[in-house]
Amino acid sequence: MDFKIDATSKNARACTIKTAHSTIKTPVFMPVGTLGSIKALDMQDVLETLGADIILANTYHMYLRPGDKTVAKMGKLHGFTTFFKSFLTDSGGFQAFSLSDISKPKADGIEFRSHIDGSKHFFTPKKVIDIQNNLGSDIMMVLDDLVALPASQERIKLSIERTTEWARESIEYFRQKQESGIGVEQNIFAIIQGGTDKSFREKSAKELCELDFDGFAIGGLSVGELNNEMYDTVEHTTQFMPKEKPRYLMGVGTPEDLIENIDRGIDMFDCVMPTRNARNGTLFTSFGKLNIKGASFKEDKTPIDPECRCLTCQRYSRAYLNHLFRSREITYFRLATLHNLHYYLNLMREAREAILEDRYDEFKSEFYKKREA
Ligand code: GUN
Ligand code: ZN
Repeated sequence: MDFKIDATSKNARACTIKTAHSTIKTPVFMPVGTLGSIKALDMQDVLETLGADIILANTYHMYLRPGDKTVAKMGKLHGFTTFFKSFLTDSGGFQAFSLSDISKPKADGIEFRSHIDGSKHFFTPKKVIDIQNNLGSDIMMVLDDLVALPASQERIKLSIERTTEWARESIEYFRQKQESGIGVEQNIFAIIQGGTDKSFREKSAKELCELDFDGFAIGGLSVGELNNEMYDTVEHTTQFMPKEKPRYLMGVGTPEDLIENIDRGIDMFDCVMPTRNARNGTLFTSFGKLNIKGASFKEDKTPIDPECRCLTCQRYSRAYLNHLFRSREITYFRLATLHNLHYYLNLMREAREAILEDRYDEFKSEFYKKREA
């Protein structure tokens, strides 16, 4: 993977990542396509209307259905879905932990039952690499052991020990397979754990960042801790991460979370928030959130956000969207999802411009000022 820092503004970074399928300008937000689709959109929307260069898919889901072997036969993720830019796949550790009916972390992997049919499965560090080789993602994630917060010191300690051990096993296996010609164009990231404990985060970061990974993620956040605890944990952790590799904050977050964590040196984000919120009626704008079901929008001829240049805002009024939402019309989901994802992707493009011009501080103040007005 080709990685270059184009500019910095204090700790904020604007970088370029090149994979076999696309060139990614950072900071970047990766829309979540858990099942190999961005809910309510088709790939033309994602590629052309939104212009996304990388999206996320989940190992856990694609393994259970339709099965990674089927995806491999159908042209891997790119051919199967027709999204011919980059895919990042999460390893399944988080999904087994959060979705599965029963999930039991063990010394050598995670045992879980499918949320679809209750069948029993066991994910090991090697197995999730085999699956992600079949999926053909551009960036794969290692199997990690994460814990719900708050957790005991002993449980967090066990989590980082296991995560490091699994990461060592993963990188060795991944590079070995590459030497034999499998997954040569793929990349692999490790995941730093440690809850909100500074010394655990330091230990986890130092142990993992010694290893030959293509990039590093911070995991185990946005799981119920306070905002400031998340920001402090990220600020503390990034100092132990190499400058010359991408930094990914998993599962985060609100527009404010993105703005704050870019300021702390994060390059990549993913979150279900823009897509899920769109479907619930919550739309993001430059002046804050808006709930489209509100009675005040019934006869409002203005677009969701007068500053927004998305397809939905160029064409439709709040009144029309309010009507579609209340009537549960299927097209509402597409229009709302397009707007919210455009908002997130555009926020990242503006943040990048500000970093390139070394005015990230001003950009951040402006971002907050608009929301107070
Ligand atoms: N998604 C959000 N947080 C995490 C995490 O800590 N680990 C993994 N694998 N995926 C995540
Ligand atoms: Zn819009």
